[in-house]
Amino acid sequence: MANDSDTIKTGNSETQSSRRQFIRNMAIAGSGIAASLAGTSAVAGSDSAQGCSTAVVGNNTRKLGALTVSPIGLGCMSMSSGSYNPPRSAKDMVPVIRGAVERGVTFFDTAEVYGPFTNEAIVGEALQPVRNDVVLASKFGFKFENGQRAGRDSRPEAIRTAVESMLKRLRTDRIDLLYLHRVDPNVPVEEVAGAVGELIKEGKARYFGLSEVSPTTLRKAHAEYPVTAVQSEYSIMERSVENQVLATCEELGVGFVPWGSVCRGFLADKFNEYSRFSEPSRFASVPYFTPEAIEKNMAILNLVREWGAERGMSPAQFAIAWLLSVKPFIVPIPGTTKLHHLEEDIGAIYTRFSDSEMAMFRKQFEQLDLVGFRAKDAALTDK
Ligand SMILES: NC(=O)c1ccc[n+]([C@@H]2O[C@H](COP(=O)([O-])OP(=O)(O)OC[C@H]3O[C@@H](n4cnc5c(N)ncnc54)[C@H](OP(=O)(O)O)[C@@H]3O)[C@@H](O)[C@H]2O)c1
Repeated sequence: MANDSDTIKTGNSETQSSRRQFIRNMAIAGSGIAASLAGTSAVAGSDSAQGCSTAVVGNNTRKLGALTVSPIGLGCMSMSSGSYNPPRSAKDMVPVIRGAVERGVTFFDTAEVYGPFTNEAIVGEALQPVRNDVVLASKFGFKFENGQRAGRDSRPEAIRTAVESMLKRLRTDRIDLLYLHRVDPNVPVEEVAGAVGELIKEGKARYFGLSEVSPTTLRKAHAEYPVTAVQSEYSIMERSVENQVLATCEELGVGFVPWGSVCRGFLADKFNEYSRFSEPSRFASVPYFTPEAIEKNMAILNLVREWGAERGMSPAQFAIAWLLSVKPFIVPIPGTTKLHHLEEDIGAIYTRFSDSEMAMFRKQFEQLDLVGFRAKDAALTDK
């Protein structure tokens, strides 16, 4: 095992008890932000929320461009989008988000379209007491009719209107990382970059991000206004961004935020070969979750299980640690509605794989025939 400069020296050789002691010490050292939540609905303190044993991020950080964040963020979409589970209430989700803060997560991901709108409201409510201690990321880029998504809209005036409403829902005066969610084919990305640049000048946003863009679009936008992060799907299973996107980020000094780090639950051992999805589950339209695909794709889950078990890691932890080991400018944002899953996911930050482990694992998974994933060249066009 190898450690990055941003990680703590722990590894496979460490005993479980010393690991627990280490986590406890880090919790005590890192309880300052938790104190800001005292008096709110989350229970303050290091060993608190929902009686979970505490895993914490400690003082570990990563850089997305010039922006400093915890090495793992929290993806909040499934709390209210209805994509993977029925929407959860603010009453149930605010403690999960605050529980993440207590454990040292400082990076939170939402979007106008999640809900739509309701996810930003939950995230805004949860983070209001600690607003200055966290990095809040949200996304614009859609238009809405009768409260429902109705196509894309990235005209500068639409961006400005969207951001005003986003700020209200998020209960803040600035969005730390403001992403274009999907490229609008009717608006050149340079215009979007210019509009976001204006909002940054006015203090309504701090950094500019893009989601699911090609390397060409990234370069065009970056030339107009510096891009801080690209957010696209990336996991052990969905690897199309390895075709030029990651290399372009590295060349330009742009951070990369993989969504789908546990392949929407598949790499977290949430499903098995008998799992079947039907409408209205979002999974029913995901090509890697058809009955044929899920059966075939069990091979990679089995490989991840094996590699994880040898290292005392759960499959989800292995999948997240793999992403963290790919490049130091990668910050996964696993999504969850459960504090105990978040704790499990955070556990990934204590492990980094060596170059030889990464090469050996890649050799093994590249021999597997996966079904339902994007073609390599899909990364070269905007989604
Ligand atoms: N830019 C974009 O276009 C885009 C698209 C999609 C998502 N996103 C962002 O990225 C975030 C993450 O992506 P994602 O949610 O699509 O995929 P993901 O993080 O790969 O998977 C989330 C799913 O995995 C489950 N999960 C997570 N940790 C687990 C664990 N330890 N054990 C068992 N199950 C676990 C969660 O279920 P439980 O709730 O049961 O834990 C949830 O249903 C989203 O929340 C959103 O903020 C961005």
